[in-house]
Amino acid sequence: MKRRVAILISGRGSNMAALIEAARAADFPAEIAVVISNRADAGGLERAKASGIATLTIESKPFGKDRAAFEAELQSALEAHKIDLICLGGFMRLFTAEFVQRWHGRMLNIHPSLLPSFPGLEPQAQALRAGVKISGATVHFVIPETDAGPILMQGAVAVFDDDTAESLAQRILQIEHRIYPAALRLLAGGEVRLEGDVCRTAGGRSGDSLISPALDRDGRLNGK
Ligand code: GAR
Repeated sequence: MKRRVAILISGRGSNMAALIEAARAADFPAEIAVVISNRADAGGLERAKASGIATLTIESKPFGKDRAAFEAELQSALEAHKIDLICLGGFMRLFTAEFVQRWHGRMLNIHPSLLPSFPGLEPQAQALRAGVKISGATVHFVIPETDAGPILMQGAVAVFDDDTAESLAQRILQIEHRIYPAALRLLAGGEVRLEGDVCRTAGGRSGDSLISPALDRDGRLNGK
C-alpha cells in the first residue's frame, strides 16, 4: 500500500513538482494525495493542478496569531484525505508544538543549507556571509524548533567566490530536487529509523567527497 502524502507549500513549489514527478514511478512507495497551500497566490497550486493532483488552499492570514485554529482546519483536511505523511516544500508558516508532536516522525521539511548551519531566513546569504566553501540542502524530520530535527539526507554543493545568494540558491535547488524525492522514498518505504535526535538509514554509504575550491590530484588548486 502506497503511503498517502500531503505536500504543504506557500510559493512556487519546485520541490513539490520534483516530488510529484518522482511519485509517478510505479515502484515509488508513496503517492501525492493533495497539495495544500496557505496562500491562494502560491504558484505551485497551478503546477499541481496541471499534474492532476488535488489542491486545497487554507489561507493562514485570516487566522493571525491563532496558529491552533489554522492547524485545526489543516488537520481536518489531512484527515479527509487520509494522509500518512507530510512534506513541507517552502511552507512558510510555523507550527505549534502540539501539531508537530501529532505528526512526529511523519513530517519532513527541506532547507537550503547543511543544517545545523544557517537555519532561518535567507540561508544562502548567511552561507555567503560566513564564507563557507561548501553548502547544500537538508531533508529533516520536523520538530518544534524551526529548521531543526533528525536529518534524513543531505546534499552538498561548492560555494564559489563569485556566487550571489541567487546563484548559490539555484545550485542548491538542483540538489534539493534530487534529495527530497529520495528521502521520501526511504521514509515511505520504511527504510529509516528514528533514534532520539538521530535518524538512521540502512545501507547506502556515499563514497563521494567534495573539496572546495577544487584540487588537482597532486593537491594543488585546480589549474594552478
Ligand atoms: C526551497 O529552497 C526550500 O528549501 C526553502 O524554500 C524554497 C522553496 O522553493 N525552504 C526553507 O527555507 C525552509 N526553511 P520551492 O517552493 O520552489 O520548493
